[in-house]
Amino acid sequence: MEKERKNAMEMGKEKKTKNKESPKEKSWRTLSVSKRQTYKVKDIRLAHSGANQLAWAEAHMPALIAIRDEYKRSKPLEGLRIAAALHVTKETGVLARTLKTMGAELYLTASNPMSTQDDVAAILASEGIHVFAWKGETDKEYYDNLKRVLESKPNLIIDDGGDLHIALHEVYKNIKLIGGTEETTTGVNRLKALQKAGLMRYPIISVNDANTKYLFDNRYGTGQSTIDGILRSTNVLIAGKCAVVVGYGWVGRGIAMRFHGLGARVIVTEINPFRALEALMDGFDVMPISKAAPMGDIFVTATGNKNVIPISVINKMKDGAILANSGHFDVEIDVNSLKNTSSSVKTIRQYLDEYTLKNKHKIYLLAEGRLVNLGAAEGHPSEVMDLSFSNQALSILYLVNNKLPPNLYNVLGEIDEKVARLKLSGIGISIDSVSEEQERYMSGWKMGT
Ligand SMILES: NC(=O)c1ccc[n+]([C@@H]2O[C@H](COP(=O)([O-])OP(=O)(O)OC[C@H]3O[C@@H](n4cnc5c(N)ncnc54)[C@H](O)[C@@H]3O)[C@@H](O)[C@H]2O)c1
Repeated sequence: MEKERKNAMEMGKEKKTKNKESPKEKSWRTLSVSKRQTYKVKDIRLAHSGANQLAWAEAHMPALIAIRDEYKRSKPLEGLRIAAALHVTKETGVLARTLKTMGAELYLTASNPMSTQDDVAAILASEGIHVFAWKGETDKEYYDNLKRVLESKPNLIIDDGGDLHIALHEVYKNIKLIGGTEETTTGVNRLKALQKAGLMRYPIISVNDANTKYLFDNRYGTGQSTIDGILRSTNVLIAGKCAVVVGYGWVGRGIAMRFHGLGARVIVTEINPFRALEALMDGFDVMPISKAAPMGDIFVTATGNKNVIPISVINKMKDGAILANSGHFDVEIDVNSLKNTSSSVKTIRQYLDEYTLKNKHKIYLLAEGRLVNLGAAEGHPSEVMDLSFSNQALSILYLVNNKLPPNLYNVLGEIDEKVARLKLSGIGISIDSVSEEQERYMSGWKMGT
């Protein structure tokens, strides 16, 4: 593995020496960590497989391709460097190609140590995108790679989870930015805290909060891909099982819906009374996690919160219980205490570890408690990421075209609507438009019964 890594780096160097560097490129190369490296991937020879993956994804991402076509001649991002931390999947590959076609120079790293698709990283690196990512990074490698993309002195940031944004507020305070975007709920929550503390130093658009993002990506994307991750790592039958979904936000709703569709009995646990009521009226049992512990066969966390399944709850679970997380960070299940208090740990198959508790119960943890849909499966289907990443591309363009003061912004309504319309037209669906009479009726107050 180490040898392969070195090979990949070597190939990166070779490639770079063939290309002439612009003065701009030279200036960032005087910085420390990533001197002369243009990419660092697991194995550049995987590029051929990555090219097929990207072609498959592109065939399912008509909205983003339409945006690429719209701006391929004008190149509105020409001369701008973007640093992005995203799950390096085939869908991210389509976004990366789009931003490059729009003129940007892209530095890409992973937003999770487990989520990179190595063949995708390889094809992007071979196309001149500065990728620093491979599946199974150590924590140190993960942070080194974040550093590498930041040391490109970017003009714009695309982040998923907030690690780049926070580093730019705590460490890389001298980098001047036009702005950035944030992809997920957890990242947005961190940025809201930063904003509340009055510390934001550049404008950030919360892509997560676009209708065409959370209603589809968080719900249908995570709903399906979480089940996919559970099936790939365990291949258990869902029908007849009791599934416990911790958190009934957009992600939890999607997961509960898909478990139900496959024949599971679903229990939801919540701390928010509105969401608990909603889960109840959607037809699910609602109870505290400590009560659900001995009842569940499969537990999935989706809260963006810490220790929502603490060790005291794990100790109450039945023999054979399966634990998975779909929240952004690996803090939702108390994996450390599980490791420290188990009498033995055994890997049963890829992404499936068996922990034997002191009470002799065996508990099965998927993808080490990291997001199961990206760790053990491929993340969201392309159709869904088409929406999220169209918002990303158009929001980045919006930041470039409009000088915004430092703040956290929602995606512009027109952009959100444009993405929905592009998607509908891309899949050949037309909808009605409002008539003048209806317009008058809906905007007036005089007409009653
Ligand atoms: N795996 C993926 O691909 C993927 C995709 C999108 C979002 N996410 C992540 O999933 C997480 C959830 O996202 P969301 O959009 O559903 O957020 P959300 O804010 O809509 O929902 C989170 C829910 O969890 C509940 N909650 C918080 N603490 C709890 C606790 N101790 N017990 C039970 N419920 C609790 C909250 O009340 C809320 O209803 C975030 O970390 C987000 O970043 C992951």
